[in-house]
Amino acid sequence: MRHFLTVADLTGDEFRAILKRGSEFRAQFERGETEALFPRKTLAMIFEKSSTRTRVSFEAGMAQLGGHAMYLSPNDTQLGRGEPLEDTARVLSQMVDMVMVRTYSHDDLLRFCDAATVPVINGLTDLYHPCQLLADMQTYFDHRGDIQGKTVAWIGDGNNVCNSFANTAKLLDFQLRIATPVGYKPNEAVLENAGSNISLMQSPDEAVEGADLVVTDVWSSMGQESEANKRTVAFGDYCVTTERMALAKDDALFMHCLPAHRGEEVQSEVIDGDQSVVWDEAGNRLHAQKALMEFLFLQQS
Ligand code: CP
Ligand code: NVA
Repeated sequence: MRHFLTVADLTGDEFRAILKRGSEFRAQFERGETEALFPRKTLAMIFEKSSTRTRVSFEAGMAQLGGHAMYLSPNDTQLGRGEPLEDTARVLSQMVDMVMVRTYSHDDLLRFCDAATVPVINGLTDLYHPCQLLADMQTYFDHRGDIQGKTVAWIGDGNNVCNSFANTAKLLDFQLRIATPVGYKPNEAVLENAGSNISLMQSPDEAVEGADLVVTDVWSSMGQESEANKRTVAFGDYCVTTERMALAKDDALFMHCLPAHRGEEVQSEVIDGDQSVVWDEAGNRLHAQKALMEFLFLQQS
């Protein structure tokens, strides 16, 4: 049995195979076809944080695969009244075929996973957002081909999505330039592991210069709302503007995992402009995660 808690849970070949399958699922979907490959399979989805894309993509994806997904929030499950995570993991494992968890602490996800006896998917923690990277890479591959050897610029906060980009840089062998203000670097252990695939800098212009892909995310992630004012000041010079995008290659793409704050981390002219692929990127959450669920189900048989 396999889990998907971080990008590093897959080999590069497995990651690329999932992307290829995701593109097949996308083509099928665009033809108006869906194949009920996993009839009656059930997915429990625990959401301790808000979500639009992750919830809808997993729920629609399971329905298209012939199964069913259920949304569980702490407000209306016993989790919110203090039932231990481990007990919840054991109970859900008796009833469903797979569990997706979106929570704060990555350690909580690991505890849940240790107690679960069905595959567990990380739907975002404070440390990682690996499902986002499946969709982002599927989008890059679909538009530009393999990302190996390319240069990606990450502008802004060294957050969960950035950490997963760093893992992916190592796995798929691209160069990731990360420009953050002092004090907002990505996770140390993640950086150490990614080694020479990463370069850290403070200048967003230096990061973007000649890049094939420019990526940013919100300045305050979920759970950091109380730091928002301080962060707005710290990240003031890190907006992806049209001038900054012009420093990248002429055919560079722009990505953002969404939700976005226009006028903060990105100008509307960029996110709504020609180089932006954010709607494909969001749509690919559906297709890439169907491919991921298929991969995890097939690992069990
Ligand atoms: N990108 C992403 O994970 O979006 P949601 O928070 O809406 O799920
Ligand atoms: N970094 C953001 C991503 C949201 C999908 C957050 O954690 O809130």
